[in-house]
Parts: sequence; structure tokens; C-alpha cells
Amino acid sequence: MEDKFYLTTPIYYPSDRLHIGHSYTTVAADTLARYKKLRGYDVMFVTGTDDHGQKIERVAAKNGKTPQKYVDEIVDGIKELWRLMEIDYDIFIRTSDDYHIKGVQKIFRLLYEKGDIYKSVYEDWYCTECETFFTERQLVDGKCPDCSRGVEKVKEESYFFRISKYQKRLERFWDENPDFILPLSRKNEMVNNFLKPGLEDLCVSRTSFTWGIPVDFDPGHVVYVWIDALSNYITALGYGGSDETLFRKYWPADIHLMAKEIVRFHAVIWPIMLMALDLPLPKGVFGHGWITIDDSKMSKSKGNVVDPKTLVERYGLDAVRYFILREFSFGQDGAFSNEALLNRINSDLANDLGNLLSRTVGMIDKYFGGALPEDQRSSPFDGQIEEMAGVTVSRTAEFMDKYMFHDALAVIWKFIRRLNKYADENEPWALVKDESKKAELAGVMYVLAEGLRIVSMLISPFMPRTPGHIWRQLGINDENSRSWTSIETFGVLHKNIRITKGDILFPRIDIKKELALISELS
Ligand code: ME8
Ligand code: MG
Repeated sequence: MEDKFYLTTPIYYPSDRLHIGHSYTTVAADTLARYKKLRGYDVMFVTGTDDHGQKIERVAAKNGKTPQKYVDEIVDGIKELWRLMEIDYDIFIRTSDDYHIKGVQKIFRLLYEKGDIYKSVYEDWYCTECETFFTERQLVDGKCPDCSRGVEKVKEESYFFRISKYQKRLERFWDENPDFILPLSRKNEMVNNFLKPGLEDLCVSRTSFTWGIPVDFDPGHVVYVWIDALSNYITALGYGGSDETLFRKYWPADIHLMAKEIVRFHAVIWPIMLMALDLPLPKGVFGHGWITIDDSKMSKSKGNVVDPKTLVERYGLDAVRYFILREFSFGQDGAFSNEALLNRINSDLANDLGNLLSRTVGMIDKYFGGALPEDQRSSPFDGQIEEMAGVTVSRTAEFMDKYMFHDALAVIWKFIRRLNKYADENEPWALVKDESKKAELAGVMYVLAEGLRIVSMLISPFMPRTPGHIWRQLGINDENSRSWTSIETFGVLHKNIRITKGDILFPRIDIKKELALISELS
């Protein structure tokens, strides 16, 4: 049986202004999913939307729409964006989907029957923007500690989840599974902010609005949006429904990806929900950094957003996907700037990769009329390239397995630059002038083409379109030379490759002009 790999993104609050920050998690998840498939895993990739809650109810009312109609329109736009970005998810779950509603009702009932949910009165603070409860001492200057907006005093009859009861078990679980909260730096934060002060029971129902999942045994209550939302990771697989085949096959999750601000829900509340339900716990939770702009978190409510659609239309999908995973170290915050994006396009994509392909194809065309004769490698540098190819493949795999996307791209690009240097060292343009060096010349061209084949596979999880262009130009048609195992060996490419000259992969951009143009646009 092949191994399974189940990964998720957060389910997003429906917004018509999804920005490059949201795309960061989906692009990373999609890249990971493609990589795992290449490695032979049976992959399940779930994303979706978090349709419920007071925040959505209010925005919908402001727009003069029912919450359902309001979210339906927006979710169509979100799916459209993921199509544009070639996010190849398996399941798109919406928390307003019927099967999810039934699943959550069942989960709530099970927790209640078990005695882990009890009724009391909630009297404290609530931040609607963050859909989070706070105690007086958690507020900062009377404001939400997370988004600095005003909070509301809430007093209503509520159900509570007996989180406190699970403190010891959660501590033990975190200790026994040191890789559960990733990157490791996030764990201290969780321990200091949540475990040390002691876990408090959590308010898990509301009665002052209706846009949520009704508690089926007490219909005046709707389930707290975070309990509703976290449950998606199992209801998406059919948990609580009539067919639990997918749930049995894929649960527990191998990794939940998200940005750092919601790690606490995934590292504290979610495992405790699962413990209370007697279900296995996920293997890991990765809290990546924020993409910031002007020093603050890019955020739809702050208005400082960068629209991924515009970026893709102007620079192409692969350039945008490459940039966000290469520029920022996955665990850390990183500042977005158009200048950094354009510099990456010119240096890494146009110069390094684009140039390597066009010169290789161009020389095979010019020196061999488009068909490379039998490989007769004899360059003194061949051994180095072959060795580096092997190291690059294995290090890329190591980084990908640790969710270190930016390090993976860095080693791949080191190899691309080495291949360009190899072309310079061997001076094929000089070899071609010497009839006795014809075989050597063929060898050099073969090494470049084979290097590009390996590169095309390594970048394929990140860049869904570029590999196809490389294969077409280099005449790589054989499925057997387009697999991960095939790049563990150097020299797989058919000796008699026939190339077809094609378009430039990444046209160079006049950065000054482009920056001026964009500033006029905005
Ligand atoms: O929190 N940089 O949804 P949400 C990086 N519905 N990532 C960012 C980002 C930025 N500037 N802005 C957003 C919710 N993200 C809940 C989740 S899950 C059971 C419920 C990404 O629409 C990042 O993954 O506010 C973050 O965790 C997610 O969007 C939150 O999106
Ligand atoms: Mg948020």
C-alpha cells in the first residue's frame, strides 16, 4: 500500500480581497502536495472557507444581503483565484455545507454527552474581528491583544468546553511529540502564553446572533465559530456522516499549514477536541510567518493588500509562486515589495534559468541542427556536475520534508548557476571551431540538457507551467524521464534528443519603467 499524506490550509473567512498573504499558505500547500505526489504518496489536500460567525453576519447585513448569499458570491471568487493560481486541492469544504453542519452537530453532542461541555454564563470580552474571547487581563489597553481593535463586553448564557481538564494530557502530548508545533521556535511561545498560565475552559456557543451552526439539542445556541471551523479537518473527510471511508484512510493529518496567529487554536483547542472525541491527533502544525507590507501584517481590514490576481496577470503565475516561496523563509515574516519581486524575476528566472534553457537549446540548434548526437562526455567538469546533481536532488528532498521551501529553491538555484558556469568553462563556442572536438562538444550539450531535465523536475512542485516549456523545447517526451526516481540518476535523457526552439521563458523586465508604471496604476 502506498503511504498517504493529508495536508490542509486554514479555511479562509470569505473575503473578496484575498491577498498575497492568503495565497502564501495555499501556494505552499499546493507545492507540498505536488511534491508528495511526485514522491509516490497518496495525497489528500483540503482547503475551503469559514463561512460562519458574527463578523460575516455583520458584513452581510451592511451589504444588504443574507449571510448565505453574501458568502456564496465571494466563495465563487475565491475558487476562481485558486484556479488562476493552479491550486490543485482535492476537497474544497465550506462550513455552510450541509454535511459539515451535521458533522459539527454530532461533535458538539458527543462532547456534551461525555460531560466535556457544560452550560454556564459567559461574561467577558469578545473581539468580533478575530472571533476570539478574551479575559480582562489579556486585553492590551482595553483593546484586542491581536488586532488592537475595540472589544465588546458579552454577557450571555453559553456552553463551555472543559479545556482545563486536558491540561496535563496536552502537556504530555507536546513533550512526547517535539515536532508537533513547527517551526520549533513557535513552541516556547505556546508554552509561555497558554500552558504556563493554565488553560481555562472555553466558551463554545453564542446566543446573540444566528449565523452559525445551531446546537441541535438547544437551538437558541450557535456553535462558536472556531469549534465549527476546526472540525472541518475531519468533516471534510466524512467524519460524522454516513460514509467515513476517506476519514479512515487519511486521518490523522500529516500537517496543518497556517500563519502564526492561529497556531494556538490548532495547537491547543484542536488537539483537546480530538482527545475528547477519542480520535488520533494530527502529526504536526506549521505556523509560517506573515507577509508584511510597510512593516505591518498585510490585512484586508488594514487596506494594505497586494492583489495576487494582478501580480499573476502582469508577471505570470510561475514567477509569483516562485517569488513568494523563494524570497521569504517559511517560518519567518518577510516584507513584500514590488522591487524585490522584479529583481527575482530578472536575476533568478530570466538570467539564471531562462538563460540556461535558451543558450542550451540555441547551441544544440546551431551546432547540431537541433539533434544532439550520441553522448560522449569528456569534459573535466562532468564529474562535478554529476555529483552536484545527486546532492541537489537529495538536499531538495530533505528541505521539502521539513517544509523549508525557500532552502529547497536555494539549492536548486545553486545547481542552475553551476550549470551556467559549466557552459562558460567549457566554451562550446570555441569547441565548435575545432572539428576534432565535436564529440566533446556533444558531451557538453548533453550535460546541460540533462541538468535542465533534473532542474525541471525539481522545480515542478513550485512552478506548474515552466517544466512543460522546458520539456517541449528539449524534446523530453518520455514519462520515464519525468519522474522523481529518474532524477536520482544522471544520464537518463535519451541521447538523440531533438530540440524545438521556443519562446523565452521569462522576459527581462525594465525595473525602473515597471515600478513607475505600477505606481501610476495604484
Ligand atoms: O483565521 N501573511 O481565516 P483568515 C501570511 N477562518 N499569511 C497570511 C496573511 C499574511 N499577511 N494573511 C492571511 C482564519 N494569511 C480562520 C481560520 S482554520 C480552522 C480557521 C493566511 O481568512 C494564513 O494562513 O483570517 C492565516 O493563518 C490565514 O490566512 C487566516 O485566514
Ligand atoms: Mg485572520
